Amino acid sequence: MIIPVKDPTRPLECPSLYDLSRPLEVEVGCGRGRFLAGRAAANPDCEFLGIERMLERVRVFDGKTRRMGLSNAHVVRLEALYTFWYLLPAHHARAVYVFFPDPWPKRKHRSHRLFGPLFLSALWKRLETGGRLEFATDHAEYFHVVEECFAHDERFERAVPMERGPGEWTEFETMFRAQNLPIHAAAWRALPADDAPLAPLAIPPEDEPREGIVRRPSRREQI
Ligand SMILES: C[S@@+](CC[C@H](N)C(=O)[O-])C[C@H]1O[C@@H](n2cnc3c(N)ncnc32)[C@H](O)[C@@H]1O
Repeated sequence: MIIPVKDPTRPLECPSLYDLSRPLEVEVGCGRGRFLAGRAAANPDCEFLGIERMLERVRVFDGKTRRMGLSNAHVVRLEALYTFWYLLPAHHARAVYVFFPDPWPKRKHRSHRLFGPLFLSALWKRLETGGRLEFATDHAEYFHVVEECFAHDERFERAVPMERGPGEWTEFETMFRAQNLPIHAAAWRALPADDAPLAPLAIPPEDEPREGIVRRPSRREQI
């Protein structure tokens, strides 16, 4: 099910997600949802939320979960850091999956990378104590950058990554494994720590909307 976002500054209103008696697992950049749909089918007692910013992939994932009759799989078409910072319930996710995030290999694009101190703060805030971040990538350099980020953050400890068979591979992973590319996987667990509130995110000046300029969404972007 695609969850409509009515007010972009308030936590998501989705009764099933806020039924705190049910655990929540979140996938960032879930693509067409191969991994998450399979996991939701295998775990009917848990809620699953995909966060994906590409409309076509959101639609494919939504169609897949409808065909499979999954009422516990949801997807939002939103930016991941923003969603973690503002919209997810505090300390409720038991697992967050980030599989094959865009590595942004060019130096001038590195600021687009998901992992950094801001994402780790928002991630820790949304994970329950003991909750896990599962990470996989084909990009060795980005893998070491992410390892370094966590190594400098005392709110997380290293854990053994989950084992996933072919039925739990993502779309990109299936492609990379078919090419025999090396896959790097790691996991971390959230530890108890000082639970400071998250300050509002600063918008970089280049992203501030300019007065009088309103970009009309293309037909493909309109839901
Ligand atoms: C390389 S693809 C991997 C997709 C999927 N995880 C897989 O392994 O098949 C990265 C995905 O993350 C999405 N994505 C990248 N940055 C994002 C962000 N900041 N917020 C939400 N989605 C994002 C992209 O649209 C894309 O679908």
